[in-house]
Amino acid sequence: MKVLVVGAGQMGAGIAQVCAASGHGVALNDVDRAAIDRGIAAIAGNLERSVSKGKIDRVQADAVLDRIDAHPDLAAACDADIAIEAASEDETLKQRLFATLDRALPARALLASNTSSISITVLAAQTGRAEKVIGMHFMNPVPVMKLVEVIRGLATSDETYAAVERLARGLGKTPVEVADYPGFVSNRILMPMLNEAMYAHMEGVASAEAIDTVMKLGMNHPMGPLELADFIGLDTCLSIMEVLYRGFSDPKYRPCPLLKKMVAAGCYGRKSGRGFYRYDR
Ligand code: CAA
Repeated sequence: MKVLVVGAGQMGAGIAQVCAASGHGVALNDVDRAAIDRGIAAIAGNLERSVSKGKIDRVQADAVLDRIDAHPDLAAACDADIAIEAASEDETLKQRLFATLDRALPARALLASNTSSISITVLAAQTGRAEKVIGMHFMNPVPVMKLVEVIRGLATSDETYAAVERLARGLGKTPVEVADYPGFVSNRILMPMLNEAMYAHMEGVASAEAIDTVMKLGMNHPMGPLELADFIGLDTCLSIMEVLYRGFSDPKYRPCPLLKKMVAAGCYGRKSGRGFYRYDR
């Protein structure tokens, strides 16, 4: 399959890597050419680590990189069989992208979104092929995490679902079928937990380290909730909480004021060097 990945951030680069590693040709797009270069450099770094651990050899690593091409102009012709959109979690931006993808890609192509919470049905409505639009929600870090939530929009056809399920299995992932409701399953359950940890921290119940230790040692989570929020990106966490809050019109999903304040201050977590913890750039 020829895969067009839209967005070369940590999710887009991870998706491009796993697709290329499974033998698919990948066109990697981003509005920012420098972001494509950074994405390809991150993939090269991951492959280098795998070579140094003896998991793959240099020839295999080079073959994966050779299968990934930069595709800086989304409107330019692209012969992809599927587009996987992994742009920022911004509904207006994603709607625009789906309208553009619908015009740019051949009629046979499937259009998937890696959105973590936005309605697939709304994105599909921007296109003339709603039956070919679907959610394909990977988890971070993509090369490591086994799950792909496969989200059926209102009009997604059985053929589209079956093709995407097959693709996900071919990437070594476990697809799980989910209906189109705000936050799907993963973020409907995960984000309120992270948000609650932020409230606990804001109210002085415990330090960030203490909260994370409770959840790591007490619940066997690999990362504490605040460390995980920094890892996902606090801006992304806030966007998802806002989608849940608006989508269900339920105050139980109100984003923590501390999260809002940190995002307003540009403290986005690991990617900006500061969140609930500090990180070396
Ligand atoms: N990219 C690629 N590979 C990575 C990686 C990355 N960013 N980070 C770690 N790895 C690999 C390592 O190379 C290592 O590989 P090997 O086993 O082949 O040697 C393996 O993962 C384990 O890494 P480490 O030993 O360095 O560290 P660890 O054991 O602490 O694991 C972790 C790191 C996998 C990230 C683990 O801490 C973890 O599972 N954390 C929770 C992650 C999580 O919850 N993700 C979901 C976030 S929610 C989401 O993504 C959805 C959303 O919409 C917001």
